[in-house]
Formats: sequence, C-alpha cells, structure tokens
Amino acid sequence: MKKNPSCTLTVNLGERSYPIYIGSNLLTDPAFYRPHVKGQQVLIVTNTTVEPLYLDAVKSALQDYQVESVVLPDGEQYKTLAVWQNIIDSLLENRFDRRCTVIGLGGGVVGDMAGFAAACYQRGVYFIQIPTTLLAQVDSSVGGKTGVNHPLGKNMIGAFYQPQCVIADIETLTTLDDRQLSAGLAEIIKYGLIGDLSFFEWLEQNMEGLLARDHALLAYAIERSCKDKAAVVAADEREAGNRALLNLGHTFGHAIETGVGYGEWLHGEAVGAGICMAADLSHRLGWLALADLQRVEALIKKAGLPIYPPTSIDADRMMALMSVDKKVLESKIRLVLMNKLGSSVVTDTFEPEALKGTLHEYGRAIS
Ligand code: NAD
Ligand code: GLY
Repeated sequence: MKKNPSCTLTVNLGERSYPIYIGSNLLTDPAFYRPHVKGQQVLIVTNTTVEPLYLDAVKSALQDYQVESVVLPDGEQYKTLAVWQNIIDSLLENRFDRRCTVIGLGGGVVGDMAGFAAACYQRGVYFIQIPTTLLAQVDSSVGGKTGVNHPLGKNMIGAFYQPQCVIADIETLTTLDDRQLSAGLAEIIKYGLIGDLSFFEWLEQNMEGLLARDHALLAYAIERSCKDKAAVVAADEREAGNRALLNLGHTFGHAIETGVGYGEWLHGEAVGAGICMAADLSHRLGWLALADLQRVEALIKKAGLPIYPPTSIDADRMMALMSVDKKVLESKIRLVLMNKLGSSVVTDTFEPEALKGTLHEYGRAIS
C-alpha cells in the first residue's frame, strides 16, 4: 500500500507507459520502487550536493536489493561524456547485468546523465527518475530526453529513453535555494505560454505563493506542468512535430548558456530570458499584442528571473550560437514563437530582420 501520493499521472506511451508519482515523503517508501525494479542490482547516480541530503533516504527504501552509488561532481559544466563515463565504469566494476536498474537522484543534470547511461549500458537497462529540483520535477524527468553537452552545443549527444517511473517528492524542494526555485518556474511558465492560457493566468495570480513555497500551490503547479508535458510527449515522443513546442525560449536560452559558459547562467534563467526574446520577436511579427508581451515579461520578472540576456553576448554571437540547435533543419533556424498569449507554434517562416531586431534590442538591454 502506497503512502498517500497526492497524485499519480501517467505518460501514455503504449507498453512503455509509466507513472509519475507526485507527493510528500515518497523517497523512503519501498512501495514506489518495488513494481519498477526488476532485477536485484540498483545503481543510484547522484552528485556531491544531493548525496548528503537524500542518498540515505533512497537507500533505506531499497534494503532488499544490492545497491551501489556513484557520486558525480555538481554542475552543468560536468555534464560531459568524460564525467558520464564514471557511471558506466561503476556499472562494469560492480558487474551489473542487463536486468539492473539505474536511478537518477538529483536535478536535471544528474537525471539526463543517468538516463543516458541507462540507455547505453548493455544497449538499455531499467531506469528510474527521482527529480529533486523544481525544474527536474516539472520538466527534465518526464519524457525521456537524456544526454550530455558538447563544448560546441548543449545536449548534442543523447538518446530518447523513457524511465520506468518518476518519483517527484515535493519535500526535497525545501533544501533548494531561491535561485534554483526561480529556474524551475521558467519551465512552468513555459507550459502556460505554449498551450494553457488558464494556467498562465493562474501563475500570474499565484506567483507570490509559489515563491513563498506554499506546499499546495507548488504541488498544483508541478501536477499541472507534468500533465501538460505528458500530453505533448504522448502525442509526439520523438519530436517529429509538436514536441518542439516544449522548447519555447530554448533556442535563445541554449545560445545564452553556451555563450556565457556552461554553469554560469542556470538553464531556467536562460530559458526565462529566452521566453522574453521569443515574445518580443512574436510581437515584432505582429502575432502578440504589446500588452501581452508586457504580461510575459512581468511574469518572468516576478518569478525572479532575468528578462534580458547577458550583455557579454552581442547580436552576431547570439545568432551564430543559435544556429547550433537541434531544431535547425537544412541550415534554417526554427523557433517556437507565440501566435497569441497561451498558444505557440514552431516556425521557420519569420523575417530575418525581425529576429535581428530582437537580438539587437535585447543585446543592448541592461537588466
Ligand atoms: P541541476 O541538475 O544542475 O540542479 C541545480 C542545482 O541544485 C545543482 O547544484 C544541484 O546539485 C542542486 N540540487 C538538486 N536538488 C537539490 C535539492 N533538493 N536541494 C538542494 N540542492 C539541490 O539543474 P536543473 O535545473 O535541475 O536541471 C537543468 C538541466 O536539465 C540542464 O542540463 C538541462 O539541459 C536539463 N534539462 C533537460 C530536460 C529534458 O527533457 N531531459 C528538460 C529541461 C532541462
Ligand atoms: N524539455 C524539452 C522536451 O522534453 O522535449
């Protein structure tokens, strides 16, 4: 019998469907793991920050198994093939077989790297996501994108690989600092803007409560975000079409992250500024009213996020960085833009002059 998860959602992918458990004090309950751990061997992948906080709690729920752990250095700058290889080394050194389970315990960096290791080890072993940041709970742990960065581009090496389940324990957010909480809010705002206007409006009304970490509000925002994401992933798992909408603000954002150096700006901060740039371009194209652009900027600002990119990246550099993006097809930059508030499209039909206008405008701005 499970201890009252406040909510269980399903990512519907046929025989690869899986549950997302969202609630409090789930980490220590063996009932959430048992149906999803098939063999006897479990490798927990975490990092130096999360290990002292939550590794023992997870281990306490897995006493019936052979449990090993690998602790990675903490930071986006370590999301590399070289660091990732530590996970593979640990699986081999401990002689893990193909029925083993890899658990990613941490934020999106750990989850992406653990998932990619699970996808590659012996061509695929079982995988569980235990996201411990707001960003990971509302986005990176759901949907099966895994991978690492290359010095020339974010997330350029990876695989689609779905977990057996996601265990999102809201209590883990109590140890998260305010900057990381805001980073997660960027991805939450994204869901409102790509196709859920009433959620965007709810966020406008409840942002103070979310920043104050009101438990019920956070639970609702995580649940609604996961529901929105699960629907997009179920309809287009491998991003042949509309899954690219989940990248609203990300082409600008990835350019910022790569441009300033991985780890300088948080992913969610770069996405926050990127969403504002996408809104500005949408306004220049005549798709988004000025008042709505202002609402987008106001909510991003209220969430404690930057609305402008760093001034160290000028418009030309930004343009060069934006052309290294997984959405680029046949040398054409494709962007997610807003055709009205609460609705977005993936498009490569925008006037290059309008994009240049946004890059110059935001390249000059001081936040
Ligand atoms: P992160 O993994 O770097 O975590 C942020 C920081 O919080 C780290 O220092 C981490 O150690 C710390 N931390 C984690 N949990 C904590 C806790 N409970 N208490 C205190 N500190 C804690 O960053 P993130 O924002 O979680 O994830 C960003 C990464 O996710 C990026 O690499 C991004 O590319 C990736 N991402 C992937 C997807 C996807 O679909 N796979 C989606 C969005 C983002
Ligand atoms: N975060 C983008 C996606 O999952 O597709």
